[in-house]
Amino acid sequence: MTIFNAYNDIKKQLKNAGIEDNIFEAKQIIKHITGYSNEQILSGYQNELSGFQEINLQVIMKQRLNRYPLQYILGKWDFYGRPYKVGPGVLIPRPDTETVIEVCLDIIDKKKPSDVLDLCAGTGCIGITIACERKNSNVTLVEKYEEAARYIKENIKNADGNAKLLMGDVFESIGADKKYDLIVSNPPYINEKDMGNLQPEVEFEPPTALYGGEDGLMFYRAIASNYRDSLKSGGSLVFEIGYDQGEAVKDILLALGFKNVKIKKDYSENDRVVFGTA
Ligand SMILES: C[S@@+](CC[C@H](N)C(=O)[O-])C[C@H]1O[C@@H](n2cnc3c(N)ncnc32)[C@H](O)[C@@H]1O
Repeated sequence: MTIFNAYNDIKKQLKNAGIEDNIFEAKQIIKHITGYSNEQILSGYQNELSGFQEINLQVIMKQRLNRYPLQYILGKWDFYGRPYKVGPGVLIPRPDTETVIEVCLDIIDKKKPSDVLDLCAGTGCIGITIACERKNSNVTLVEKYEEAARYIKENIKNADGNAKLLMGDVFESIGADKKYDLIVSNPPYINEKDMGNLQPEVEFEPPTALYGGEDGLMFYRAIASNYRDSLKSGGSLVFEIGYDQGEAVKDILLALGFKNVKIKKDYSENDRVVFGTA
């Protein structure tokens, strides 16, 4: 089969399965199995796939048509312009989380060294991005589960920033014995009801990265109260939130005495970040 025929076949199969981004995905899958760049695909589209590549393609298509996430198949995914290792056991970085990065980069003083804590780190995409974008910062990433932490370790190794992993549980205040200029977290925040209505791809992501308790807010309550005193005077707490959690999370911060509490929307105009100062 030629690359051209394979590409058209993948696109058609994905489209018939109801996968919206079928053109983008077909290109990514061809790149993945051939190892070609976009330019090589365009100039070599009449090249034949090898027997190995055809079998690899069949396996991948079977997975993808079962809604196994494309990102897990590719094994890496870009976030804020950098590639992160991803796979089973870790949450795939989402574009919405880039709004969290924008808030954090606005807060961090470019000239002075800053101590930063990223709680519930997953791939490490938030903490590592901050460490790479603000070279003066000293970032600690906290993660409870080894399945996710193995990706953090790899991603820290591949990045050019000052970041380190601390294994532990935010409910036990891991890392709260130091003082930080900024504490950021994208914790699990899906409530009990919505856990029953996940997109098919999300079903493959670890429930430990998704479930935020009956009302989805248990991590916000615990983190805001356990880590409030770990902020330096004037230090900031930044949370990613679900689109309908803005007011509830704002109330949690206000009740604990946080000041200047604000909500920021993402590019889809949904509430996405709540932040305040100690
Ligand atoms: C929603 S994911 C966020 C991952 C990453 N920060 C991101 O934005 O893509 C939440 C992460 O919190 C971790 N986690 C769950 N419970 C935890 C706990 N009690 N203490 C520390 N980390 C926890 C999960 O394993 C998962 O990696």
